[in-house]
Amino acid sequence: MRAFSLLNFTQSLYLRCTYLLVYLPSAYLSTSFLFMLTLTIVGARPQFIKAAPVSRALRARGQERLIHTGQHYDAGMSAVFFRELHIPEPDINLAIGSGTHGEQTGRMLQALEAVMLTERPDWVLVYGDTNSTLAGALAAVKLGIRVAHVEAGLRSFNRAMPEEHNRVLTDHCADLLLCPTQNAVNLLAAEGITTGVHLVGDVMVDALLEHAAQARQQSAILADLHLPPGEYYLATVHRPYNTDVPQNLRSILGAFAEIHRRRAQPVILPLHPRTRKILAGLGWQIPAGVRLIEPVGYWDMLALEQHAACILTDSGGVQKEAYTLAVPCITLRPETEWIETVQSGWNVLAGADQAAIVHAATERLWPQGMPPAVYGDGHAAERIVDLLHRNARQQSGV
Ligand code: UD1
Ligand code: UDP
Repeated sequence: MRAFSLLNFTQSLYLRCTYLLVYLPSAYLSTSFLFMLTLTIVGARPQFIKAAPVSRALRARGQERLIHTGQHYDAGMSAVFFRELHIPEPDINLAIGSGTHGEQTGRMLQALEAVMLTERPDWVLVYGDTNSTLAGALAAVKLGIRVAHVEAGLRSFNRAMPEEHNRVLTDHCADLLLCPTQNAVNLLAAEGITTGVHLVGDVMVDALLEHAAQARQQSAILADLHLPPGEYYLATVHRPYNTDVPQNLRSILGAFAEIHRRRAQPVILPLHPRTRKILAGLGWQIPAGVRLIEPVGYWDMLALEQHAACILTDSGGVQKEAYTLAVPCITLRPETEWIETVQSGWNVLAGADQAAIVHAATERLWPQGMPPAVYGDGHAAERIVDLLHRNARQQSGV
């Protein structure tokens, strides 16, 4: 009898010790501090830039696996950003490549589900509004894995844009909605989303503030292109509304030619591969004064932006960068998600309207000084990682 109870006691002590030493700490650590695992999904150029500061902050406090869907794959659209921004090599590159929206998103969804089933992360972290964003959010939510969306709450209210569907659907899947601006918070509230919503600032501005000075010192692009600072226009064009509608593309190029005629300054156009392919297919002669170059790396782009007389763009990221650098911007779209840039007078919406573009570029009076810092203080990434940790712990009841 005594031997039996001694055995019982020993067994129970063993179980208690196992519980205390193994189960409790692992339950705590699996969703907190060093062992919180975040699966980051990136695929397109702006997402590499957005992920750079967050990835660094994540790895300082926990574990990250970086998954590249392969949506962008040319070295100048992908590898250069990993190198310049010291982004860790992707743990997995799914090499999905290009395709129709359904084909590309579907292939990503299937491949990402397999990765998530193996990795079982605490969080899936997605950025912005591309097909990679939507595929990541959908794959996760269907497996019951929590989704955090960086750049939540942005809206163009233009349902013809593929990005508008991607961002609305992603926001409605997300558990943690990480907003760059108060306007984004308000727009989510108008759609009934108030839980898990946080104003953190803009991670692209984190990257910009970190790299702007270095880019100015280290980039040789102005010398290489023989561009005197302040004496050229910088343009980017890649939205389907501009590239896939020939009269819009013709009107934009016509505007660039007219700006050059009036100002005797070149328009430098680092060409997105989508636009390059379309222009090659159309076989048009590029007007005098419009200088097509390959897409440039991040440092060269920041150097070109900082010294431009004016930026003409349909890019979301470039509008914000122009604003933060206090460079006048003409947006080649009828609307923008970044309304603060327009409200402050630093950005003008000209669409693909040739006369409006030329007027803004050659006659408009722009604000002076520095615009208000509405996109944050350069520390959005730390806030995001803090929120991931805090919410992981709340979820596990610790
Ligand atoms: C995508 C995003 C857009 C984002 C942009 C950033 C979607 C729906 N769109 O648009 O929101 O603003 O990225 O740049 O997700 N191509 C190459 N090499 C590459 C990548 C693309 O040649 O490395 C060509 C292919 O012909 C491809 C085309 O560009 O079909 C368009 O690429 P895709 O990723 O589908 O859309 P983007 O226009 O880049
Ligand atoms: N960018 C770059 N090289 C280029 C064009 C853009 O480094 O030739 C950078 C730009 O500075 C910004 C980001 O890419 O940080 C914007 O990406 P893009 O315009 O492709 O996408 P969007 O922001 O419109 O989604």
